[in-house]
Amino acid sequence: MAENRKDLLYIKDLSPSEIEEILCEGNKKREELNGGKKEWSSLRGKSVVTLFYENSTRTRVSFNNAAAFLGAYVRHVAAESSSIKKGESLDDTGYTLQAMGTDAIIMRHSISGAPKFLAERISIPVINAGDGTCEHPTQALLDMLTMKRHFGRIQGLKVALIGDIKYSRVARSNIAGLTKLGAQVSVFGPSTLIPPHIEAMGARVAASMEEALQGANVVMGLRLQLERQQKGLIPSISEYSKYFSINEQRLSLCEKDCIVMHPGPKNRGVEISDEVCMSERSLINDQVTNGLCIRMAILERLIGEKK
Ligand code: NCD
Repeated sequence: MAENRKDLLYIKDLSPSEIEEILCEGNKKREELNGGKKEWSSLRGKSVVTLFYENSTRTRVSFNNAAAFLGAYVRHVAAESSSIKKGESLDDTGYTLQAMGTDAIIMRHSISGAPKFLAERISIPVINAGDGTCEHPTQALLDMLTMKRHFGRIQGLKVALIGDIKYSRVARSNIAGLTKLGAQVSVFGPSTLIPPHIEAMGARVAASMEEALQGANVVMGLRLQLERQQKGLIPSISEYSKYFSINEQRLSLCEKDCIVMHPGPKNRGVEISDEVCMSERSLINDQVTNGLCIRMAILERLIGEKK
């Protein structure tokens, strides 16, 4: 992260060398974690708040554990049980948390741009933990770390993103990051869920599932974001699963050593088969562990002792 970077909002803001540095630091944390380490002191005395206006299991707990393992105090604010329900505005919530000694806010919001709005108003760092359909930077960083640890490189990898591209912030952050590091990204899904601007971001829109999977090193399944979609974009869940699910038969089109990833939460039997989830190709649980490590690296960079 650039020396003067206060926040982590978008992958599109990061240079390739900043991304590489974060991956390197995340990898170091992963090696230490693999060696049994679970306690660091770089955030001792710091206070971190997770401010979530949307549901989450892994991202919230992962940030929580990352901050706690580094020695910080962590507090959680869930929109439905806070003064937000009494009508408090986003900026007032931010000023309040800042005034009580919070050192960083980790924020998830259903509106694209909400973390940026808050970051521009308060002086403490804001980390985007997913904003609407815009970006989910730590997810893409953990995905890139997973690929890099597995293949030893990102450059030249063929990555296929399959599913709901239109409403996926994970897709947007991954396309931004992977193309910066020299991977080739192709996307495929129902044509109603492929937004026109996606090619301008550097991804290739495949004409068929076969074309997307042919020669792929990495296949990433994406959940149908039904909570964000307008009605009528897919005929039915069973039809979606028939034509767009990642299953063993379809994976035979990929490279022999291809891996399967998914940011979770996954709907088994819809975008990905049970068999694929349980197979040796699946690095889904490894992604979760790398998420913890990437989030430790980010927190250290933004509010760690050396800053
Ligand atoms: C993703 C998200 O919230 O954008 N999940 C996650 O953070 N691991 C993907 C999703 O919800 O489908």
